[in-house]
Amino acid sequence: MSKFSEQVLGWFDLHGRHDLPWQKTITPYRVWVSEIMLQQTQVKTVIPYYERFMRSFPTVEALAQASQDAVLAHWAGLGYYARGRNLHKSAMKIMADFEGRFPESYDDVLALPGIGRSTAGAILSIALQQRHAILDGNVKRVLSRYLALEGWTGNKNNESFLWHKAEEFTPISRFADYTQAIMDLGATVCTRTKPCCETCPVRSGCLANQQDRVRDFPAKKPKKEKPIKQAYFLVLENMEGKLFLQQRSQIGIWGGLWSFPEYESHESCLNKMKKYESQSTSLHSLVEWNSFRHTFSHYHLDIFPVVVKGIDENHALQVFGNGEWACKVALNSQQATLGVPAPVTKLVRLIRECKNV
Ligand code: ADE
Repeated sequence: MSKFSEQVLGWFDLHGRHDLPWQKTITPYRVWVSEIMLQQTQVKTVIPYYERFMRSFPTVEALAQASQDAVLAHWAGLGYYARGRNLHKSAMKIMADFEGRFPESYDDVLALPGIGRSTAGAILSIALQQRHAILDGNVKRVLSRYLALEGWTGNKNNESFLWHKAEEFTPISRFADYTQAIMDLGATVCTRTKPCCETCPVRSGCLANQQDRVRDFPAKKPKKEKPIKQAYFLVLENMEGKLFLQQRSQIGIWGGLWSFPEYESHESCLNKMKKYESQSTSLHSLVEWNSFRHTFSHYHLDIFPVVVKGIDENHALQVFGNGEWACKVALNSQQATLGVPAPVTKLVRLIRECKNV
C-alpha cells in the first residue's frame, strides 16, 4: 500500500465520518441515492433530504413506480434537478434491464443516466467493496495540492493525470473505507477556503505544503463572466389566496418542476395580463415587486415578480392554460406534493410575509 493511502486510512479510522445515514445499512441502492445527492451538495444539506427520500422510496422498485412529480417534490430545494430526473429514469431502467437489482458491473453502472466515472467508482467501492478510483471535486483538491499540480484541474491533461494518480493511490484492500476516507479528508481537512494542514495525515508528503503554497492549488478555473438573464414571474392569486402554478417543460431549467407563468420581458408579461383583463370584469391590483437574483452554474437569473390578486380561475384557465392552484402554506411545507424550484419557494414565503423583495 502507498504511504499516501496508509496515512489516509489511518486518519479515517480515528477522524473520518462513520455514522452518516447512508453508512448505516449499506446497500447499492442507498449508496447510489446518497452519492447522487452528494454531487454538488454538502453532507449537512443532504441528510434531511436523504432521510425523507428513503422513507418515501425505500427500494429501486418504489422509486421506479413513483411519478416524476413525486420524485421532484422530494428534490425541491436541493437544486440541479436533472439529478432527480435521472435517478428516476435509472430506477425504471434497473427494473426493465436488471429485474430491479442494482447492477454490479462498472460498465452497467456507468451506463445509467446521471452516473459518471467517479460516481460509479464511489458506489461500487462503498457498497460492494470493489476496487475503483474516484475523482470528485474534493479528491481533485486533495491530489492537486499533494502533487502541487499547476493549472486548472478540469483541463484534459490534468484530468487524465489526476485519474492516473487517483488509481495509483487506491490501495489493494479496504476499498470502501479508502473512498470514504479521501472524500472526508477533502471535505473536513483539505477544504477549499480553510485547509487545516496541522491535522492533515499526508502533510509530510504534500508538495503544496512543503512549498508553502497550499492556497495556490487547485488553480482557479479560467473565468468566464456569467451572463445575466431576466424572467418575469406572474404571480396570480385567486379569491381564496391560492397561487397559480404551471408545470415546466422537461427541457430547459427546472424541467418538470412547478413554477409561476414566466415571461422574458416586461412587455410580454403585461400583455398577457391585458388579455386576461379584457375577458374579466373584476378589478385587480397589480404590483410589480423589486427583482431578486438566482444564480445557476452558468448564468444569473434576475427574477421580476408581478403580483396580481383577485384572479378568477375560469378566466385564468382560458388565458393561461392548465395549471394548479396551490395553497401558500402547503408550498412552503416540507410535505409539499409539487416540486417547486427554490426561488419560487422564496417568493411564496415573501408573499406570505407580505414583504417586498
Ligand atoms: N461527497 C460525495 N460522496 C460523498 C460521501 N460518500 N461522503 C461525503 N461526501 C461525499
